[in-house]
Amino acid sequence: MDSVIKRREFLKTAAALSAGSIAVTQAAYYESASRTAQSQFRQVVIASSNGLMSSARAMEIIRSGGDALDAVIAGVNIVEDDPSDISVGYGGLPNEEGVVELDSSVMHGPSGRGGAVASLRNIKNPSKIARLVMERTDHVLLVGEGALRFAKAHGFKEEELLTDTAREVWLKWRESHSTKDDWLPPHQIDTRDIGEGCRDYFRATGTINCNAVDQRGNISGVTTTSGLAFKIPGRVGDSPILGAGLYVDNTVGAAGSTGRGEANLLSCGSVMVVEYIRAGKSPEEACLQTCKRIVDQTKMKRLLDDHGRPNFNVSFYAINKKGEYGSAAIWSGSQFVVNTGEPESRKGDCAYLYKH
Ligand code: GLY
Repeated sequence: MDSVIKRREFLKTAAALSAGSIAVTQAAYYESASRTAQSQFRQVVIASSNGLMSSARAMEIIRSGGDALDAVIAGVNIVEDDPSDISVGYGGLPNEEGVVELDSSVMHGPSGRGGAVASLRNIKNPSKIARLVMERTDHVLLVGEGALRFAKAHGFKEEELLTDTAREVWLKWRESHSTKDDWLPPHQIDTRDIGEGCRDYFRATGTINCNAVDQRGNISGVTTTSGLAFKIPGRVGDSPILGAGLYVDNTVGAAGSTGRGEANLLSCGSVMVVEYIRAGKSPEEACLQTCKRIVDQTKMKRLLDDHGRPNFNVSFYAINKKGEYGSAAIWSGSQFVVNTGEPESRKGDCAYLYKH
């Protein structure tokens, strides 16, 4: 039985990959539209704001009958491959030593399985390796050198991921901002006033999260990132941590995050969103409540503004089993992307706790 499932998953993956180069024709679009109409489930894809093309690609796969995990991974591969997105994959901003380190996680609702990689160097599609960890090991998370060796064992080739653009941004930080790094001096654990706030434009965390419900009502998600720019080498954010940067329960829904990973790691926000949905909240309300938990958890002075509010942002993106979606952030101004079956995705404003 297990090998039958694996073979089916393999065939779906192969089909999704080969479909990647085929444009959807009008005829195929309307044919899939009629097939979709027969599905009793409301298909939906939600993504962070950099996921316009990713969510459209994911929906294209879902409309053709594909599995939600195949769909969301194929979707985010577009951004991982895109050097102009400096927060994900190839072209992502590097660590403080100028080396790009990538994090990613996947969860497949129907099988209840997940996989992740962290601090992965020289492989531009960490989401594909996270999937392989899920499918081809008895583990859930591989990191650093071991993750790279595992990727190479599966035939992935090492590539330089640092583009000239990312290197120049890093060089500028190194030359002009390098006193504002992530190191803290020794201090008492109950001290709340230690270190400088150091979140400027160049320290921004990017990331893409993408979650979907497919035509069979199955739910999957993926999160992939180059993490916090100029981080201490080996720093791992929330994205590869199941429960923090991504969580899927096939009977309830899915959630994922972007923003300051350290804050989300301390709250395990994505599993919290899913649990709020299980308790009856809408996806948007579940995301808002989770943002509030992060605010309540934030006590260090360097992370607070003059009004005691976080000086960083975290955003969540969620869907439920009924195909309803919602998103919220700590601060106003964030957007999400959604696709409910159209050829093109649309942007919406995230709900928020505080207005800029
Ligand atoms: N949320 C992405 C990160 O902090 O790495």
